[in-house]
Amino acid sequence: MKKNANIDILNFKENDIVTLYGWAQTIRKMGSFNFVDLRDRSAIVQLIFNNKIDFSKESVLKITGILKKRKNPNTNLKTGNWEIEVSSYEVLSRSIDIPFEIKDDVLAKEETRLEYRFLDLRRPKMYENLLLRHKIIKIVRDWFDKNGFLEIETPILSKSTPEGARDYLVPTRNNGKFFALPQSPQLYKQLLMISGIEKYFQISRAFRDEDMRKDRQPEFTQLDVEMSFINEDDIFSLMEDLYKNIMKLINIDISTPFRKITYDEAVDLYGSDKPDLRYEYKLIDLTKYLASSNSPLFQNHQSIKGVIFDQLLSNKDIKILEEIALKNKTDKLITIKIQNKNFNSNTLNDLISLELKQIIDDFNIKDATLLITRGEYKNVTQSLGAVRVKLNELFNLANEDKYEFAWIIDWPMFELDENNQIVSAHHPFTAPTDETIKYLDNNPLKVKARSYDLVLNGFELSSGSIRIHDKDLQIKMFKVLNLCDQDINNKFGFFINAFQYGVPPHGGLAFGIDRLVMILAKESSIREVIAFPKNANGIDVMLDSPSRISDEQLKELNIKQIDSNKK
Ligand code: AMO
Repeated sequence: MKKNANIDILNFKENDIVTLYGWAQTIRKMGSFNFVDLRDRSAIVQLIFNNKIDFSKESVLKITGILKKRKNPNTNLKTGNWEIEVSSYEVLSRSIDIPFEIKDDVLAKEETRLEYRFLDLRRPKMYENLLLRHKIIKIVRDWFDKNGFLEIETPILSKSTPEGARDYLVPTRNNGKFFALPQSPQLYKQLLMISGIEKYFQISRAFRDEDMRKDRQPEFTQLDVEMSFINEDDIFSLMEDLYKNIMKLINIDISTPFRKITYDEAVDLYGSDKPDLRYEYKLIDLTKYLASSNSPLFQNHQSIKGVIFDQLLSNKDIKILEEIALKNKTDKLITIKIQNKNFNSNTLNDLISLELKQIIDDFNIKDATLLITRGEYKNVTQSLGAVRVKLNELFNLANEDKYEFAWIIDWPMFELDENNQIVSAHHPFTAPTDETIKYLDNNPLKVKARSYDLVLNGFELSSGSIRIHDKDLQIKMFKVLNLCDQDINNKFGFFINAFQYGVPPHGGLAFGIDRLVMILAKESSIREVIAFPKNANGIDVMLDSPSRISDEQLKELNIKQIDSNKK
């Protein structure tokens, strides 16, 4: 085994003889000397070769040499006070020309980095991200162990679970029958509560075929938790204690309890159910001012809301904000520039001048751009929420070193999808609140759920609920979701069956490990904290997967392909 890591030279004295192993990161020729930066996972060390060398960059070396103090220390390197005069070396493995330089400010496109991920992971920042991930998972496991939880693995070859995304399916040789990869271990963990496990957790893989985003992967890691005989407050305080421990890793002392914001409040004030609370710029309600103004632009609209941005925006920025608003369900972003409590005269401003003056007074606006949308409440909040997020991207409103956790509570139980069909806002195993259960039959959209999300800096970190533990209520919930008896039986027969044998009250949650690491590593994409991620189109470009399978395999699986573009 390798005796010394590069960083260990800090424990040696000048003129000591050391043997090191690593990759030749850079090679610079100066006169008859060659300067080589030798990299291993601990550090980079400068080597001096006083005669010819016969290897290229990224070759793997074993070197022996004398440790010397550098005349010109390199303050950017941990080992920058030292260098090694190489007396002998061995090339353990040669590298051909590399597709990109192994350094942190890498210039290569993400596609190339993913194709050569084994090289990309040689970059120190990637190693740091994997190390952080490892440490977070270690803290999680130790914390749950200390608190009496059992880690239990659940099957990957499973059956479709209703988390709202499309399933990844696995064909079998059992004619026409498929497994589904789990979108989460939801049903298994509830069954474990029925089994009396009482405190379960798992670092589990989940699989969802859904549209990609910077914080989504088709295959991701959840910290999945379930407990019996608990209520919301028990879960909140346990998880807050866990997060306190995790945040200590990056030297952040967070205060608990976390703030709680109702779903309605989050949408109303921030236009989002996962608000970034590091900056203000809350949505203000302008309906009472403008709905009855003389401007047809505002008449007959359910809701009119605005954001006061305390700078005069350039036309270029306004265009960017308009684009984002239009992508988010509004047909218009109205912008009014206010300077010294005054606004320019133009067709729109003149029509609403009295109302504008009142708004300026009531909200004490001096110099600002007022950004307004109007229409259906849902669309108005969504579009302004997106504008608020874009303003942060454009003007760095959020303090990068702040971590603003909040529980979002009092969720609706159901929502309408694009086809006006009633669907679960969370999932169908969530218990309704005692106060609103009465609306289940006649006005389900009024039912509130006992669910909660934990948000951090504009990301949904985790999501969970107190579950239904009554068989009849569970069946009723499926029926409200328009599942017929046959569907219920086919999909959840085993689950309903278990509900007849004594079910403890229980609840839990799951949080996205990749997302958490992404935020703590200050990365902007989840792909930076996963060793071998899929690209933005859900493809593994290194393995070129998904890929076609052979005709024999298809035959074995009894699958006939109807794709005429078969390559
Ligand atoms: P949910 O579907 O909200 O809840 O998922 C829990 C958490 O997992 C993370 N997450 C993702 N991370 C990366 N890529 C994805 N595609 C992705 N989808 C979700 C998020 C999210 O908050 N069974 C329930 C939990 C429960 O009720 O206990 C569930 O899976 O951080």
